[in-house]
Amino acid sequence: MNAESRTRLDRTPEWNALAKHRDELGEVHLRELFADDPSRADKYTVSVGDLHLDYSKHLVTDETLRLLRELAASADVAGLRDAMFRGERINTTEDRAVLHTALRAPESAVVEVDGENVVPAVHAVLRKMQIFTDRVRSGEWKGHTGKRIKNVVNIGIGGSDLGPAMAFEALRAYTARDMTFRFVSNVDGADLHEAVHDLDAAETLFVVASKTFTTIETITNATSARNWLLTELRADESAVAKHFVALSTNAEKVADFGIDTANMFEFWDWVGGRYSYDSAIGLSLMIAIGGDRFREMLAGFHLVDEHFRCAPPEENAPLLLGLLGVWYGNFHGAQSHAVLPYSHYLSKFAAYLQQLDMESNGKSVDRDGRPVSWETGPVVWGTPGTNGQHAYYQLIHQGTKLIPADLIGFARPVEDLQPGLVAQHDLLMANLFAQGQALAFGKTPEEVAAEGVPAELVPHKTFKGNHPTTTILASELTPSVLGQLIALYEHKVFVQGAIWNIDSFDQWGVELGKVLAKRVEPALTEGADVPGLDASTAGLVARYRELRGR
Ligand code: F6P
Repeated sequence: MNAESRTRLDRTPEWNALAKHRDELGEVHLRELFADDPSRADKYTVSVGDLHLDYSKHLVTDETLRLLRELAASADVAGLRDAMFRGERINTTEDRAVLHTALRAPESAVVEVDGENVVPAVHAVLRKMQIFTDRVRSGEWKGHTGKRIKNVVNIGIGGSDLGPAMAFEALRAYTARDMTFRFVSNVDGADLHEAVHDLDAAETLFVVASKTFTTIETITNATSARNWLLTELRADESAVAKHFVALSTNAEKVADFGIDTANMFEFWDWVGGRYSYDSAIGLSLMIAIGGDRFREMLAGFHLVDEHFRCAPPEENAPLLLGLLGVWYGNFHGAQSHAVLPYSHYLSKFAAYLQQLDMESNGKSVDRDGRPVSWETGPVVWGTPGTNGQHAYYQLIHQGTKLIPADLIGFARPVEDLQPGLVAQHDLLMANLFAQGQALAFGKTPEEVAAEGVPAELVPHKTFKGNHPTTTILASELTPSVLGQLIALYEHKVFVQGAIWNIDSFDQWGVELGKVLAKRVEPALTEGADVPGLDASTAGLVARYRELRGR
C-alpha cells in the first residue's frame, strides 16, 4: 500500500464499507442479536492458552467481523506483525527494532537484529538474574554489615515501575512472603519516605531500574536512597556495592552514578520501556517469585506471541480485540475503554495498561508525520470490578456514554487463600457474570413496570443495556496466565496502531513537560527569571514562592 492511501485510512473502500455497515446496523440491540442466533455465544468465543474469551456481547454480526478483518488486511497488519517479529526497525521515528517478543523466545529460537541473533544474550541475562535472585533469596548475598537482604525496593518510573509493580501485586500469592517488596516511582519525596521509613537499611537492596538511566525522577530517588542508606549505616560509598543494583541499557551512566557495572543487568534499545518487564526490568519481580515462576510467566507470554503470529484471523484473539476497539472508537464514537478485573490481585492492571495503550497509541500524526483525520487510542481506565460497581458503574449502565469494557475473572481463587475465604470466590464471580448480563441486556420499561414500579419511576429504573463487553475467563491467576494476559493486550495495542498507521513504539509526547520542568525549577528554588514564562504559570510560581516563604 502506498503512503497516500495509508494516510487516508478513512477514505479506503474498507473503511467506507464499515461506515455504511454501521449505519445499516443502526441501534440494533444485543437482545435481538442473541434472539436471532442461538449459536452466537459459541460462535463468538475464542480460546488461547488458558484464556477463554467470549466476545458475543459485542455490537457485531458476522458481516461486521468480516469487514473489520478486511480493514486489517488492507492495513497489512499481518505484514507489520511479521516485520516486528523479524526484528525490522518498525519504530521508525527512533529507528529501532521492536523485539519484546525476543525476551520470551525459547533458547533455541533465532531472532536477528542487524544480522545478530539476540536470543543468546537474552538468555545469558536471564541466567545472571536467576543466579543473583537465588543468592538474595537464599541469604547468600549479604548487605554491607553482613546481614541478609530482607527488603527489596525497586526505584523506577513508567515502564521501569508499572510492569514489575503490577506483576508483583498480581502474583503476590507466589512471592517470598518472608521478604518485603516496595516500588518507588514518584519524585514526590513522600514515595521514598513511605517505602523506607520502617526498613532496616542493613537488610535493604535497592534495584534502580531505568532504561536510559537519565530519567530525573529515578535518578533523584536513587540518589536520595543512597544518601539514606549511607546515613543509616554510617558507612562510606563502599556500602553501595552491596545494596544497589542497576537495570539499564546505559552502562556508562550506571557507572557515573556509582553502581559497579558488575551489578548491572542489561537490556537493549529494541526493548521499549512499556514492553520491558520481562527483560532485566523484571529483576525485583524475579526476586519476589523466583526464577522458575518468572520463566513460567515468560512461557505464557510466548504462547500468546505464537498465537498472534500464527492463528488465522478468525481465531486470532489479539487481532479480534484490536478490531473491536477500532469498531467502537472509529465507528461508534467511544472515547474510552474500561478494564474491570474481578481479582483483587489485578488492582494495578489498568494502571499498567494505561501506559501500554495510551503511551503507545496516543498519537495524532501517522508514521510519515502527517496529521491523522481519524480517532486513535482510547482513554483506558478501570479498577477491580466489585469496587467499581459501587462507584462508577452507574455511569456505564445509565449514563450517556458508550464505554466498551473487558471483564476479567478466574475460575479458581489463588491456592494459598485461607479456606474460609475460598467460598467468597463464587460471589465475586457471580458479580462478574451478572454485570456482563446487565450491561448487555438491561431491563426494559415493560419489565420494570411489571414489577409494580410507579410509572414516574419507570424511566429511572430502566436499563437500556447494549453496553458491549468482552469476558476473559481463565482457570487461575498463575504466572503463565498473567504473561498470557499481558501479551494479549500488547498485541491488541499493536493491531490498533497498525490500523491507525501510527508509530506505537515512540513516546515523544512526554518530552515537552520534562524540558519545561527543568526550566521552571530554578524559578521555584532561586526565584530565577525564566524567559518566556506565560502569565498564568508566572503567577502560580510567584504564589508558590510566597506560600513557601521565599
Ligand atoms: O514516560 C516516558 C518514559 O520514557 C517511558 O516510556 C519509560 O517507560 C519511562 O519514561 C522510564 O524511562 P527509563 O526506564 O529510561 O527511566
